[in-house]
Order: sequence, then C-alpha cells, then structure tokens
Amino acid sequence: MRHRSTPHRSTPHRPAQRLPTRQLSAFSMRHWGTFAIVLALATPMAWADGNGRMVPLLPQYKQECAACHTAYPPTLMPAASWKRIMGSLDRHFGTDASLDAATVQTLSTWINTNAGTYKRVREEPPQDRITRTAWFARKHDEVAPSTWKLPAVKSPANCGACHTTADQGDFNEHQIRIPR
Ligand code: HEC
Ligand code: HEC
Repeated sequence: MRHRSTPHRSTPHRPAQRLPTRQLSAFSMRHWGTFAIVLALATPMAWADGNGRMVPLLPQYKQECAACHTAYPPTLMPAASWKRIMGSLDRHFGTDASLDAATVQTLSTWINTNAGTYKRVREEPPQDRITRTAWFARKHDEVAPSTWKLPAVKSPANCGACHTTADQGDFNEHQIRIPR
C-alpha cells in the first residue's frame, strides 16, 4: 500500500501549502482512501461461524445495535431468525428498538449476507435468541448457574460481561474473564 507517486513522501520537507488547492485536495482524498482501507483491515473480526469465516462488524450495525447490548455477530444465527428480529424491532424483547426504514434496510442487507450458514448455526433457535442455540449451551456448559445470576452478568445475552472483546465481535476463548 505504498504510494510511490506521492510527492509528499519523496520530498518530505516541501510545505503542503505550496501545492495548488485542487492538487492538495486530490492528494488528501487519496490518503483518506488509504486510511479507510487500513481501518477496515484493522477492524477486529467477528467469531467465525465454524467454517472459519470471519466477518468484520459493519460500523453502522455497531452504532445502532450495541446501544443496549453487545453487537451480536450475524454469523451466530441463521438469516430467518435475523429477518424476524429486524422485522419486529418495535416489539424487541420487551422494548422498542425501532429504526427508520432505510437503516433497517441497510442493516438487514448486511446481516443477511453474513448470517450463519454452517450446520451449527443453521437451526433457528427459540425466540430467535443466540443464547437459546444448542451450540451456546454446549460452549457454556462449564459456566456455573450461579455465575449467570451475578449482578455483573445478569443475563447470558450480556456477552461482554465475560467476553472482554465482545464489543468488537471477538469471542475468542483467550479473551474471556468471568466476573466473581
Ligand atoms: C432499546 C434497547 C435495544 C436496542 C437498541 C436493541 N436491542 Fe436487541 N435486545 C434488547 C433487550 C432488552 C434484549 C433482551 C436481553 C436479555 O434477554 O438479557 C435484546 C436481545 C436481542 C437479541 C437476543 C439475544 C439473545 O438472548 O441471544 C438479539 C439477537 C438482538 N437483541 C438483536 C438486536 C439487533 C440486531 C439490534 C439492532 C437492530 C438490537 N438488538 C437493538 C434491547 C435492545
Ligand atoms: C458468564 C460468562 C459468559 C457470558 C455472559 C457469555 N459467555 Fe461465551 N463463553 C464463556 C466461557 C467460559 C466460554 C468457554 C471458553 C472455553 O471453551 O475455553 C465461552 C465460549 C464462547 C464461545 C466459543 C469460543 C471459542 O473460541 O470456542 C463463543 C462463540 C461464545 N462464548 C459466544 C458468546 C456470546 C455470543 C455471548 C452472548 C450472547 C456469550 N458468549 C456470553 C463465558 C461467557
């Protein structure tokens, strides 16, 4: 990702103001482009769906769906479950999580593209809850019943209580710290 043609790099002491305005803006546009790509690559990956498929979380998804809880990676449930979730945001687990139609559309498209397809996540869990899937129960069978009830945990849906990097879509087993 090196810009050989960037005048700035080859003549580092040349003051930026001496570039004509038009050229300067083209120059910074190009740099913003590079910057955005670097940011995208640096975005932490969501837990793979079992196929080793890793999905970076869409910034808008994090913005809209992490206000009340973890931004759950779409890879953890099948498209049909997500479709029902996105189609009933005004009646969302006892709360109103509605969004405008355009935002719902954008998020739904992204979720649908990244929804779980691997056998483990293919089944639609009861209540469209990740926490009601068979794999969730299996992966968490070593968590003591009393731990789920701790004030710092409260709900199995509160992934971030134990998965310290859940807000970045990272559920790696090495990033877990169980509260006491
Ligand atoms: C106004 C608060 C609020 C917002 C905003 C919100 N949710 Fe929720 N969501 C909840 C509550 C409350 C629960 C139930 C949590 C629990 O059982 O502990 C929940 C649960 C869920 C669950 C099930 C979790 C489980 O048990 O596996 C999913 C999936 C979910 N939300 C997806 C979304 C998505 C997608 C968005 C964005 C479009 C969103 N939520 C935005 C409040 C919200
Ligand atoms: C009370 C603490 C706690 C909460 C809350 C919790 N987890 Fe976990 N999670 C664990 C433990 C402990 C493991 C097992 C790690 C191991 O196998 O070494 C685990 C394992 C996992 C794994 C498998 C990781 C791997 O690398 O194999 C995933 C995926 C996962 N959790 C997702 C979630 C999601 C999604 C939520 C929220 C909906 C959640 N967890 C809530 C403690 C928790």
